Amino acid sequence: MTAQEIIKKYIKFFEERGHKQIANSSLIPENDPTTLFTSSGMQPLVPYLLGEVHPQGTRLVNSQDSFRSQDIEEIGDNRHQTFFRMMGNWSLGDYFKKEQLPWFFEFLTNELEIDPNKLYVSCFKGFNNIPKDTESEEVWKELFKSKNVNLTDRISFYGVDKNWWSRSGVPDNMPVGEPGGPDSEVFYDFNDPKIHGKSEFKNQKCHINCDCGRYMEIGNSVFMQYKKLQSGFADLPQKNVDFGGGLERLLAATENEQDVFKTSLYFPAIKKIEVLSGKKYEDENKLAMRVIADHLKASVFIILAGVRPSNKEQGYVLRRLLRRSVVKYHELTQNFTPINEFKEIIKKLLVIEEAVDPQKINKNRDFEVVLSVLTDELTRFGKSLDRGLKIIEKVEKLTGKEAFDLYQSSGFPVEITIELMSKKNQNINIDEFKKEFEKHKELSRTASSGMFKGGLANSGEQTVMGHTATHLLHRALKDVLGEKVSQAGSNITNERVRFDFTYDDKLTDEELKKIEKIVNGKIRENLKVSFEIMPLAKAKEMGAIGLFNEKYQDEVKVYTMEEERPSPDGSGLHRKQEAYSVEICGGPHVDFTGKLKRFRIIKQENIGHGLKRIYAKVG
Ligand code: ALA
Repeated sequence: MTAQEIIKKYIKFFEERGHKQIANSSLIPENDPTTLFTSSGMQPLVPYLLGEVHPQGTRLVNSQDSFRSQDIEEIGDNRHQTFFRMMGNWSLGDYFKKEQLPWFFEFLTNELEIDPNKLYVSCFKGFNNIPKDTESEEVWKELFKSKNVNLTDRISFYGVDKNWWSRSGVPDNMPVGEPGGPDSEVFYDFNDPKIHGKSEFKNQKCHINCDCGRYMEIGNSVFMQYKKLQSGFADLPQKNVDFGGGLERLLAATENEQDVFKTSLYFPAIKKIEVLSGKKYEDENKLAMRVIADHLKASVFIILAGVRPSNKEQGYVLRRLLRRSVVKYHELTQNFTPINEFKEIIKKLLVIEEAVDPQKINKNRDFEVVLSVLTDELTRFGKSLDRGLKIIEKVEKLTGKEAFDLYQSSGFPVEITIELMSKKNQNINIDEFKKEFEKHKELSRTASSGMFKGGLANSGEQTVMGHTATHLLHRALKDVLGEKVSQAGSNITNERVRFDFTYDDKLTDEELKKIEKIVNGKIRENLKVSFEIMPLAKAKEMGAIGLFNEKYQDEVKVYTMEEERPSPDGSGLHRKQEAYSVEICGGPHVDFTGKLKRFRIIKQENIGHGLKRIYAKVG
């Protein structure tokens, strides 16, 4: 079974059970200051899990491109990737445990034809006032019994560290307002001596959540029914299901292949690395080859989402992925500038990815884009490596701190520093390097968790205000500069609104003042903000603005900002033609524009290729 077949079967299975397929959102979240990348299918759905009405209804399904940057340094085992596709299905206050668990079990055993004897599950053992999940336990017992599976050790219970899910992890780390809940995971057991010969885990005491690799988690049903309060939890207005299962791991289970990098989704690229490096995919080379395949694939998707290497935010993550791939390639081959080699590997990856998702990936078109970014970045990295090499040539000794500074300032890889210094019979104090490195890791972790908290915890309201302001700004830009202006992206934090749009010329001060004045006028008019769900064709007919791309489905949510007065004939359409702003958007928004108080443009930037960026403050 191919990866594409698994996606198709999954979507169809849930469509047959009343689900609507929703779009695969961009890897770079729109209007979400809380995180750099879309890291799970639920992320674009947070407002709906909290109670907003979703235009596609209460049962949703999709395959979502996801990226998790937290684990970059940890990639290299048999099952983790930074980029992966998450198969997801959701109940927004519709079905719950008694439907979700049997459906996923049926999907695994009937559709993917996985032997139920190889499946193990975990449930939540309870925490403070949140009870042990015996309901899920009962459902699982019946399911296993129905297939005559021995129940011994089949169902395990864990606490919040393993069987609780929220975007920020365990309850203590959740910001106020964040949704979360207990979950139930399904694991696949690879310990089949017939397949692996002598299983390396055979005599080990291991449990389904241990890291040895015998069991692999292949799906997680989150019962998202709580919202974090200052202290403790409140029930959400609705009980949701948020399911996610990694395509790569579902494929590994169907292929009964314990190493994800040996499945059909990765192995052709690994083979290519073997040929190019002249090394075999075995023991000491495995880690480097896995990192190269993983990081180059993630880089491809991040580049195609519009990110370019830089020292900030997503651009920095992309830079790290590419540079780390170079370091690992150097480990295999001593080659520092593998531009041509990476070109070959990326070509292979694109062929694999086009077969998985031909609507999204076009190997010929996308290769050109990725290649030009890759060549620039690797050339630049080559130059900083040269600079680092010159420094190392000159010095007699290097402390751990100096080695770290070299790594930090020019990205010069410490592995290479150690190697070169050892040729001079000098050892780097690695403990010292490690200390600096840990300090650095801790700092970036704090920065990213701070970023997460900043967005949701303290200022949900401020973020929502910023979001409403972008609609007014978008409309005002069109009023002043013409309809050809259209949104190219936006990002909202507590502190400011950032709005990207297509326009060739630099805006004059006068134009900026005019735009600011219009937005402030609309704030003073205290327009009512409301939404209606309608077919996409109707939204277009009434002139709704929005990014008309593959993101939209048949039914869309349209937000309008208009004077509050009764509709003369009760028809929404008539009223909307008089509205100031009509825009396709998921929400949420403030209910009246007056809540924004004041709007100020801080600066404009040219971000290239006919794109401008405006920063503004609200409130
Ligand atoms: N959102 C859940 C996860 O990412 C399903 O595991």
